[in-house]
Amino acid sequence: MFDFDKEINRRNNNSYKWNCSENELPMWVADMDFDTAPKIKEAIIKRANEGALGYSTTPDALYNSYINFWSRRHHVKFEKEWMIFSIGVVASISSIVRSMTKIGDNVLISSPVYNIFYNSIINNKRTILSSDLLYENGNYHLDFTDLENKMKDEKTTLMILCNPHNPIGKIWTKEELAKIGHLANKYHVLILSDEIHCDIIDPTFEYVPFLSVNDECANNSITTIAPSKCFNIAGLQSSMIVCKNDEVRKKVERGLNTDECAEGNVFSIDPLIKAFDESEDWLNELNTYLYENKKLFKEYVEKEIPLLHIVPSHATYLLWVDVSRITDNAKDLCAFIRKETGLWITSGEVYGSNGKSFFRINLATQRKNVIDGMHRLKQGIELYLKK
Ligand SMILES: Cc1ncc(COP(=O)(O)O)c(C=O)c1O
Repeated sequence: MFDFDKEINRRNNNSYKWNCSENELPMWVADMDFDTAPKIKEAIIKRANEGALGYSTTPDALYNSYINFWSRRHHVKFEKEWMIFSIGVVASISSIVRSMTKIGDNVLISSPVYNIFYNSIINNKRTILSSDLLYENGNYHLDFTDLENKMKDEKTTLMILCNPHNPIGKIWTKEELAKIGHLANKYHVLILSDEIHCDIIDPTFEYVPFLSVNDECANNSITTIAPSKCFNIAGLQSSMIVCKNDEVRKKVERGLNTDECAEGNVFSIDPLIKAFDESEDWLNELNTYLYENKKLFKEYVEKEIPLLHIVPSHATYLLWVDVSRITDNAKDLCAFIRKETGLWITSGEVYGSNGKSFFRINLATQRKNVIDGMHRLKQGIELYLKK
């Protein structure tokens, strides 16, 4: 049994998330408040004690850890030759945008989606093209007619898929992924499947790796994976790119080397091996704890703040909440809640303009904070309605 209720003081260690005043409760950026798995900490301490913190190689053991973990947990077999080490998923995405598309090309996304995708596209002078997710009856789905039309455009050369999807927490099905893969193949659009959230999944659910769907998907895609979200080690800056297609992989690798993001730091190797090889029990317990947090929050909101609608989801520790029965300006609402109650959540428009009447809340924290957060939320909404 691991103690996910144990509090960690993050106010005094330069945490990005907790960089706020004493009375505030940050439930925004996708970063967890838990102590990481004991084996990971042991590996970091051991490496620090060895001293001489010079440059590192990426040994076969690291690739094998990824291969075995994905095979055991997600029933997909990667080959070592398909894999490229990278210092982070965002670094990989930006590099791939540069190496696999040209200035002026369209890069397709499905809004609302992780905000940094937008930066990776515009900072590189490519054009963002969104096939917005359709929101109907309180739930999201892909608009395949629109997706096909946008893929047909000759300027569209890459689609960044979020699988599972941040911020809505949706696990795409094998059928949906196969349909995306088929259209992408037909219109020569390369798929970049960002699977960083794939190991935070409700117990009894499973995600489907894009490249496991069929040959069409495997041969026309690049996947980014990392242990950073699920083991709470984003600060170690270590991730992997997986690409079966030799021609595509060579270009990606060249780009990644040019961008100087293919070499890990001294703590980005052994702790990761320990994560994948020896910390799965910790991960399973974490997923149960997060599921309970989400359940508690949902039940409270349904009963106490029924004007809100929580979009159903089975992945990530994030909930995507519809506030349209209160306002279509979640930015104003979130700023008000923060000012009045100290609860810091993310207003949805940062994930795309169709997110403007939603907010995202991060429940990867001690249960005591979840309870505090839901009470602050109720108080904030009540005060907002009286304004
Ligand atoms: C979908 C998605 N991709 C990538 C990242 C960040 O990845 P990294 O820290 O490896 O750059 C995040 C972090 O929130 C994310 O949600």
